[in-house]
Amino acid sequence: MIVGVPKEIFPGERRVALVPAVVPALAKAGWEVLVEAGAGAAAFYPDAAYIEKGARIAASRAEVFAAADAVFQVLGHGANDKTGRADLPLLRPGQALIAFLRPLGSPETVREIAATGAVAFAVELMPRITRAQNMDALSSMSTVAGFKAVLLAASTLPRMFPMLTTAAGTIPPARVLVVGAGVAGLQAIATARRLGAVVSGYDVRPAVKEQVQSLGAKFVELPLETAGAEDAAGYARAQDEAFYRRQRELMARVVAESDVVITTAVVPGKKAPVLITAEMVRGMAPGSVIVDLVAERSGNCELTRPDETVVEHGVTIIGPVNLASTVPYHASQMYARNLTAFFLHLARSGTVELNLEDEITRETLLTRGGEVVHPRVREALGLKGG
Ligand code: NAI
Repeated sequence: MIVGVPKEIFPGERRVALVPAVVPALAKAGWEVLVEAGAGAAAFYPDAAYIEKGARIAASRAEVFAAADAVFQVLGHGANDKTGRADLPLLRPGQALIAFLRPLGSPETVREIAATGAVAFAVELMPRITRAQNMDALSSMSTVAGFKAVLLAASTLPRMFPMLTTAAGTIPPARVLVVGAGVAGLQAIATARRLGAVVSGYDVRPAVKEQVQSLGAKFVELPLETAGAEDAAGYARAQDEAFYRRQRELMARVVAESDVVITTAVVPGKKAPVLITAEMVRGMAPGSVIVDLVAERSGNCELTRPDETVVEHGVTIIGPVNLASTVPYHASQMYARNLTAFFLHLARSGTVELNLEDEITRETLLTRGGEVVHPRVREALGLKGG
């Protein structure tokens, strides 16, 4: 049985779905690994490193897809909205595909994958449960993004982050506000603290207060009713527009006092709430920086443009969409470990098993036997039995 790892084809993507270090774990479970030549090069995993760990190298992409019983990708068709379609003719019935596939963002592409007969799993649908923690690729990528967001902000800000007492006088520390203290936000808080900034964090889920404080940041308390802000799965619940309006009013002063604002606030399956208006940006000091991590989902800041950096009222607003790819070595390592743990969970017996009693399998499985089987995706497509 063969796991195939094609080179990523999304323009500029530098990650690879599998790194040499995980090859032995797959081999132990009876899986041979076939990697397209050069697949890991941009993440600094040369072909020779894969061979050393027991993998084989294939000369072409077509060869990888033709031989593989299971294909591992970072951005599959759907998540790769530029060139992902090129994979459709390469997929075949019964072949497993494990990747980011953006199933709820582009359900039509799931239908196209289903038509190939492939058995597709979307890693972004991994339930955030204890048992699946080591399979949670979204959290891994958010960790990388939270780290890198702070570095982007620090290198753009015309000030330094730490407080310095020098012969040339005292420099006050930068003030960083992180809005949304989930995985990305907490990593951003920790990174900003390490650089010496004075950091504040805000989240609608009161449960994260302790986590923010344990990282040495101040938790911003806003007089908002947040008792029902968390659902059973630990995610934020969507609030109504009146809530967001009040939140903006209350946050305006904290935003105005910050040199850097990093936003990560999302509610699964919903458009990101606008928490920073153009008016609030105008209230910030010139030179300030906003890094909007949810740019891809229209942004927490009204002025964000996805994948662009804009300067408005002297404030730089950065809207990165694929930050994890800019730290490809560790992003690939984390992704590969997540995928391998997931795959070994699915393929314990030596073949990919579809045990729908299992929450992890049920929640991530998108297609089988030519059909879209995931209830939420079926519903999004208007199919019966959703
Ligand atoms: P998460 O779900 O762990 O965290 C989101 C946080 O926002 C939660 O703690 C939630 O309670 C909070 N939130 C929701 N509504 C809020 C509101 N009105 N005010 C304050 N907080 C609110 O998500 P995670 O993994 O941290 O990811 C955050 C975002 O970053 C996601 O949209 C993800 O797609 C994005 N991301 C962006 C990357 C990039 O390259 N730009 C890379 C990786 C992740």
